[in-house]
Amino acid sequence: MSDNPELGVCYYPEHWSEDLWITDAKNIQKNGIKWVRIAEFAWSRIEPNPGDFNWNWLDKIVDILGSNNLKIIMCTPTATPPKWLVDQMPDMVALDENGQARKFGSRRHYSFSHKGYQKESQRITQAVAERYGQNKYVQAWQTDNEYGCHETTYSWCKSSLTEFRVWLKKKYKNIDDLNKSWGNVFWSMEYRSFDEIDLPNLTVTEANPSHNFDFRKFCSEQVKNFNSQQVKILNKYSPGRPVSHNYMGHFVEFDHREVSKDLDITAWNSYPLGNLQNMQIIARKDKKLINDCYNIGDPDFQSYHHDLYRGMGRLWIMEQQPGPVNWARYNPVPIPGAVRMWTWEAFAHNAEVVSYFRWRQAPFAQEQMHSGLMLRDNSPNIGSQEVMQVSKEIQMINLPKTENSEIALMHDYEACWMTELDGQTADFHYTRLMLDFYKSVRVNGGSLDIIGKNDDFRGYKLIIIPSFVHLDDKVFQKIVSSGAKILAGPRTGIKNSNFQIPENLSLEGLGYQVTRVDALSYDLPIKVDWKGIKGQLHVWREQGKSSGVVEGNSEDGFPVMTSGNKGNYLCGWPDDNLLSAIMREQMISAGLKPITLPHYLRVRRRGNLLFFTNYGKEIVDIPDYFEGDILLGSKKMKQADVTILESKK
Ligand code: GAL
Repeated sequence: MSDNPELGVCYYPEHWSEDLWITDAKNIQKNGIKWVRIAEFAWSRIEPNPGDFNWNWLDKIVDILGSNNLKIIMCTPTATPPKWLVDQMPDMVALDENGQARKFGSRRHYSFSHKGYQKESQRITQAVAERYGQNKYVQAWQTDNEYGCHETTYSWCKSSLTEFRVWLKKKYKNIDDLNKSWGNVFWSMEYRSFDEIDLPNLTVTEANPSHNFDFRKFCSEQVKNFNSQQVKILNKYSPGRPVSHNYMGHFVEFDHREVSKDLDITAWNSYPLGNLQNMQIIARKDKKLINDCYNIGDPDFQSYHHDLYRGMGRLWIMEQQPGPVNWARYNPVPIPGAVRMWTWEAFAHNAEVVSYFRWRQAPFAQEQMHSGLMLRDNSPNIGSQEVMQVSKEIQMINLPKTENSEIALMHDYEACWMTELDGQTADFHYTRLMLDFYKSVRVNGGSLDIIGKNDDFRGYKLIIIPSFVHLDDKVFQKIVSSGAKILAGPRTGIKNSNFQIPENLSLEGLGYQVTRVDALSYDLPIKVDWKGIKGQLHVWREQGKSSGVVEGNSEDGFPVMTSGNKGNYLCGWPDDNLLSAIMREQMISAGLKPITLPHYLRVRRRGNLLFFTNYGKEIVDIPDYFEGDILLGSKKMKQADVTILESKK
């Protein structure tokens, strides 16, 4: 069955003179693009003065785009409340951790908890939804834009404090339970009533991690609540048309799985070069990778996020990097072919739509140095040629439905927050750890699903659980009874739900009881030997008591891995080479067939199709192991090439 994806583009009619609109629509269509996203930052043009709506321009462009066979993704403009609104309600702005107001003059200057702003957000959403909810050209919606971007998930303002107290009261009912659960006897932090509790900022030294943890959960729920208020309105006025939000890469400040429950489409914005730069600096610290891939991106970052968000709903890429961006530390030009390759890679992961950011480069304001598919003078930029190429190629290949993978990687936002709040080493970074495990499967030719604790575990042959800091016993039993082979660790099951050390110290059945943690810097790894492979455990290594079979030893006599009657436990964070060797063995014993791929080559299965992407500078051959008819590309692959094989197996 064919399930062919489509292309889209982000377009800002309000930035251009009306004379351009008709030609723009025709050119967009000529590029093979089917979807156009509009209006996410257009509040000041939709409602220039309070209650005074100007729909003429938006009606006109909706009509122009639609009558040129373009489908519209209409956005709610709530990421950019206009000046008059901020002046009417100055306390709607978020306060940063130091209590400073985040001023008007860019975007996202609101607090999720401000009741007045929530009302305004619903009012403008309703106005747009009433106007376009039944419009035949408006076929999908986007709420707001990139929740949390520019450090806006948390606000340390009065409305946040008021709502946090209400939230805590609802959760704990009585203050003694809160004191006990947070362990407030420590340092005399006990409260006599919920009204005494403050936000966990500006404390002399670190605030209680349990206080912080609850604040994070609260903030995450505030995002969910804000989003669901808009979704309800959109569903009412525009039933049957899918609602999306555009998430970011490498962003974990709210629980996206929870927010996604209210959405139809989980879209994300993919900027491979900007993300490579930012991620490397914060977390990966792999100089070779950053130098080798500076103009093509990390070979696993995009795929990881496709799989992460695909696990939460229908996957779209709402913004795809089309050329150099403006916001990373360094902003190189992508290598020719990269835009096409990123697009195909998204389709390999079941993306329904890839939409480029943006149609034409803006000549003014904050993002002048950000490329578009068109140059400022309206001539095509290099990305546009690649988009046209993909749009022709997708006509020629019928894409089957994606089936579940045989390997699942478990991911959890709360686990991530726990690793951040109880860091123990500055070099522990949850997403980097996840990426390392993800990569260790991919370099062995595997495809993965990324799943959460409430997903279905049945049907997997191997379930990988790195750093699931608190893993509820019932969830663990469900994973065990799925019959999959289990590889857990490091840092799994070492806290209870209250963010305290459990009495039994670790999960049972994995052959290890963690007693001490060596939390290290990258530069001071521990040497280990695992089945003759000399490697290292870096950043995190657990000393403990083994009650199962031990595999491998460190130079100071602790296990690398243990196994018990329920699964295996990795007692530290292995370097890439060691982790991929361990993963290879795990895959074999789970009945899978790993195949070692050339360094920067990756493969992704979608039904009976295998999608290969080459992120490396070297020309590589697809191993003979992979047989099938070539539908696109060739078995010899240059950098940024894409090859699709129709597999016989
Ligand atoms: C995204 C954002 C867009 C634009 C883009 C630039 O994060 O959603 O509005 O700013 O980055 O790369």
